Amino acid sequence: MTSWWRRGAVYQVYPRSFADSDGDGVGDLRGLRAHLDHLTGLSVTAVWLSPVFPSPMADFGYDVSDHCDVDPLFGTLADLDDLVADCHARGIRVVLDWVPNHTSDQHPWFRASRSSREDPKRNWYVWRDGAPDGGPPNDWRSEFAAVGPAWTYDEPTGQWYLHSYTPQQPDLNWEHPEVEAAMHDTIRFWLGRGVDGLRIDALQRLAKDPLLRSNAGSDRRHDQDWETAHGRLRGIRRVVDEFPDRMVVGEVYLLDLRRVLAYLTGGDQLHLAHNFVFVHLPWDAGAFRAAIEEFEAQAEPEAWPAWFLGNHDHSRIATRYDDGGHGPARARAVALLLTALRGTPFLYQGDELGLPDAIVPPDRVVDVDGRDPERAPLPWRPPSVAGAGAGFTTGEPWLPLVADAERLCVERQAADPSSTLSLVRRLGELRAASTALQTGRQRMLDAAPDVLAWLREDGDERLLAAVNLGLGPRTLVPGEEATLLVSTDPGRPSSVVRDLVLQPDEAVLLRLHGG
Ligand code: GLC
Repeated sequence: MTSWWRRGAVYQVYPRSFADSDGDGVGDLRGLRAHLDHLTGLSVTAVWLSPVFPSPMADFGYDVSDHCDVDPLFGTLADLDDLVADCHARGIRVVLDWVPNHTSDQHPWFRASRSSREDPKRNWYVWRDGAPDGGPPNDWRSEFAAVGPAWTYDEPTGQWYLHSYTPQQPDLNWEHPEVEAAMHDTIRFWLGRGVDGLRIDALQRLAKDPLLRSNAGSDRRHDQDWETAHGRLRGIRRVVDEFPDRMVVGEVYLLDLRRVLAYLTGGDQLHLAHNFVFVHLPWDAGAFRAAIEEFEAQAEPEAWPAWFLGNHDHSRIATRYDDGGHGPARARAVALLLTALRGTPFLYQGDELGLPDAIVPPDRVVDVDGRDPERAPLPWRPPSVAGAGAGFTTGEPWLPLVADAERLCVERQAADPSSTLSLVRRLGELRAASTALQTGRQRMLDAAPDVLAWLREDGDERLLAAVNLGLGPRTLVPGEEATLLVSTDPGRPSSVVRDLVLQPDEAVLLRLHGG
């Protein structure tokens, strides 16, 4: 039996923006539980929840102040247990976001660490004296441009602490064995409760040059992706493997595929790695083909790809690839692409609706790094019927909704067979019923200029997928009779074809008849 994390798609829920059950304008676990039919309708095998742990929300949950509880904003530990049980009853696995690189500055560990240079937890974080000129210890910068230096001076003890993200997210010191052991225990806490896997946040940050040398003047970065990362990851994996049938997917935010693949080798590190090279591709068939072939050529044969083009940190697919009005069609093409590639597709909530970024006026901006537009709440029902909260909330939503919630909402799209939601549901059904799509061999084809085309084969089942990334129509000749299973163009009838003219941004999946 194919492992669950290879079979079908993983759906990312950003809990603040999924569904609000109590009218406070922020999504919560009960809201999610009430909408599990939506996930079932997409045939996803797993749901990944962005952090729901206690947090002051300086980075909207990625600043964790207690790894082993649920923030009251989202509900209770019992709500999370209930969610896991409900998901399991539907055959959906639950993956939690695990944030090992840093904690909140309000975490008891950091409060202790900051209290005195003699505190037993002092070295659980990275403290250093300033440079001789009175500035920070080295030239490392926060991942967030608006934050600037990755160091903040702390008056009470007269030293600087390291933070790869906001100053409210001090980096843990993974050189310290007690930190590693304590973080391992947080994994045991969740997997012991029946959680099926972890998404490791900012994995590339888990190991830095222990000498804290500056980046300038060096041919490599010293503030991430240090060799010791792999030993640490193996330690994490050993803990995960104490539990049967679990999965770890890593956010390895490196734009060099070889460096990413180093986290997938040996069968004792990650099961899956998010490939950020892919997210940064231009809308270009050659670029997509090269990225796919690079993975196939360079990864170990046992390594399994994960493909995604959207998450809570990136402008939405429909906006990023809009290029003068192509966004909606390209969002549909991407849905087919991800479903039909060899590997596990990750789908970010709202991508099944083809949502664009929301317009966030300056007085509603809340994120330090400009990521509010892709985090807008999901529109469930038409505002004309359900009010301004569009079925997401009865209160004031924490971020404005997308402009066209009336037309893009779940209720409207569910009732429309030509909608993006209907397409994504159909794609999920096709994948669920096809071993060729789940685990079949893959071969890229030279179909036509600007057309990304590939075969998926398993036994007698032979499928051809093609996406036209060009600006004009392109003729696709499968070379044999084929049945059109699905097109992203809702106007194209399902039929038997010998060749077909793909419109710009159109993607199709064909079953080849052979001969
Ligand atoms: C990851 C998360 C991002 C967060 C950062 C710090 O990149 O995806 O949302 O801000 O880590 O935890």
